[in-house]
Amino acid sequence: METERLSPDDTGIARAAALLAGGELVAFPTETVYGLGADATDDRAVAGIFEAKDRPSFNPLIVHVPTREAAEAIGQIPEAARSFLGGGWPEGLTLIVPLRPDAGLSKLVTAGQDTVGLRVPVSAVARRLLFAFGGPVAAPSANPSGRLSPTCADHVMAGLSGRIAAVLDGGETPGGLESTILGFDAAGPVVFREGFFQAPDDLRRRTSAEDTAAAHAAPGMQASHYAPKGQLRMNVTTPDPGEWHIGFGPEIPGHASLSPKGDLREAAARLFALLHEADARGATRIAVAPIPDTGLGRAINDRLRRASAPRP
Ligand code: TXA
Ligand code: MG
Repeated sequence: METERLSPDDTGIARAAALLAGGELVAFPTETVYGLGADATDDRAVAGIFEAKDRPSFNPLIVHVPTREAAEAIGQIPEAARSFLGGGWPEGLTLIVPLRPDAGLSKLVTAGQDTVGLRVPVSAVARRLLFAFGGPVAAPSANPSGRLSPTCADHVMAGLSGRIAAVLDGGETPGGLESTILGFDAAGPVVFREGFFQAPDDLRRRTSAEDTAAAHAAPGMQASHYAPKGQLRMNVTTPDPGEWHIGFGPEIPGHASLSPKGDLREAAARLFALLHEADARGATRIAVAPIPDTGLGRAINDRLRRASAPRP
């Protein structure tokens, strides 16, 4: 695919919004760095983010919305957050808050967990895009996995040209540093990641020990986080009696399939839904067909490995 470079005028914004609505990926500027956006309600579009970035695991994504009201419709913003928000939403701040169950987000966005990262960008171009699109946009930084966050459209093109539908060129991002991530625990607010928003000096920082613990607890990190209730076995061509079999590809249909035609993107998009279905069916033993360990298949296998690990 040829990546379009769009101007941040009405035509470019409308084109970018239409691409998002069509399930395509569009990189766009915020006041921090460029994000790689997808419709946060569309499993397949969100799976495309992981594919384009070549991300080896499904870590959760920040959801971008145009207004505080739109944020409140997705997450339950705790009292303790209100003093940071003032009347609106400060520049470069992301809040990790409990997800509203009826928010309608793809489970891939939150990696199947019950919190969501929310951000209302201040950047005019980001806001115009979000208003034009009219829904939540999931976006990690618009760089290939393991590389630096992009602060201009050329950076985005250098890393992702040919892998995404478009980049909305809004020039250099003023922040150049990712958003500050603020979470909440029983003791109140805590800074998970330092960033563009300057959190007060006296605010609690997550210690490096807590960071490590949190990294292990984060979905895609901790072995058994977001494991289905049933025991899971990988690389199973022929299931044992009593196993609920999740298939992949035309050769292995299973009881339900991640992708009958063997498409990894479709499989990534359906992964969390099928693990949920296994739970809903009360499956005590789940077997999953072999998934090729290439491209998005690596992230799928990473997630399955963790889900099949012994439980604490
Ligand atoms: O400035 C930024 O934050 C940019 C722009 C595009 O918004 N985004 C960004 O996204 O840097 P990313 O994916 O590169 O980093 C977001 C971090 C990740 O470490 C992710 O694990 C964490 O936020 N995160 C997102 N949702 C989370 C959640 N529900 N719980 C814990 N951590 C979360
Ligand atoms: Mg990043």
